[in-house]
Amino acid sequence: MSNFAQTFSSSLGKKLIMSLTGLFLCTFLIVHLVGNFQLFKDDNGQAFNSYAYLMTHFTPIKVVSYLLYTSIIVHALYALILTMGNRKARPVGYAVQAGNANSPWTSRNMGILGTILLIFIVIHMGDFWWKYHNAELPYAKYEISLDNPQDIKVSELPWDAKRLIHSDYVDTQAGKEIVVSKDLYKVVAKAFTTPWYVALYVLSMVALSFHLIHGFRSAFQTIGWDHKKYVPLIRFLGVWIFGVLIPLLFAAMPIFFLLKNY
Ligand code: HEM
Repeated sequence: MSNFAQTFSSSLGKKLIMSLTGLFLCTFLIVHLVGNFQLFKDDNGQAFNSYAYLMTHFTPIKVVSYLLYTSIIVHALYALILTMGNRKARPVGYAVQAGNANSPWTSRNMGILGTILLIFIVIHMGDFWWKYHNAELPYAKYEISLDNPQDIKVSELPWDAKRLIHSDYVDTQAGKEIVVSKDLYKVVAKAFTTPWYVALYVLSMVALSFHLIHGFRSAFQTIGWDHKKYVPLIRFLGVWIFGVLIPLLFAAMPIFFLLKNY
């Protein structure tokens, strides 16, 4: 076996792969969060639908997306392989979880938290990503005033209308820019009118929070970037940014739509 293959089939190598894919997924979360901020705009989804279009039609972003799907699968698969390996090495559970009992709750439950997140991602991608790519969604036609870009009129077009019309153009005579985009905003806004669905998202964000509180710091330890000079910064980012701020802002999105409908 080559040195390279040997490294990645060892327990440390597998942990290294988990750390690198995990940190890549953390970077995705920041981009996804910032992009989804468009949902808060009071423009009937014009900015959000344009953003969704860009994310799915710009080749470099599409390439990164495939890297993202691969990372999710590899991260989950290696977590399973490592857990099974640990069980095999210690087939009879300890009567008393010596040493382990003192480790934080998050570190002992990364598997459960990760499984909840995987289920969440499957449901989430099925409801939004899959629909955007495969369902016959209606189009939103935005007429944006050239004089006052805040003045946006929206109307709905059937799913097969896009190919019939010349979209995304400036009508100088009418003083308007016309933008036509698949109405993913409507799908998201509608999904978040159901209280149990919003609750599912909020609970998943709690799992995300605990998963990242341990996972972020642990990844840096595995790759050896845990010099004591940097530990306070890594701890701060792991707990307050990835563990608190990011999950809170994600959870705010479904809650925002639920409250908007009351
Ligand atoms: C709670 C607020 C969230 C909202 C409103 C939201 C919304 C969306 C929407 C509309 C899409 C499809 C369009 C697109 O690809 O951008 C999407 C894709 C996706 N979401 Fe989310 N999302 C949220 C949170 C999350 C979280 C916390 C995760 C991960 C734990 C996640 C993982 C993904 C993935 C992996 C995709 C596919 C991305 C791609 O194809 O490039 N989302 N999300």
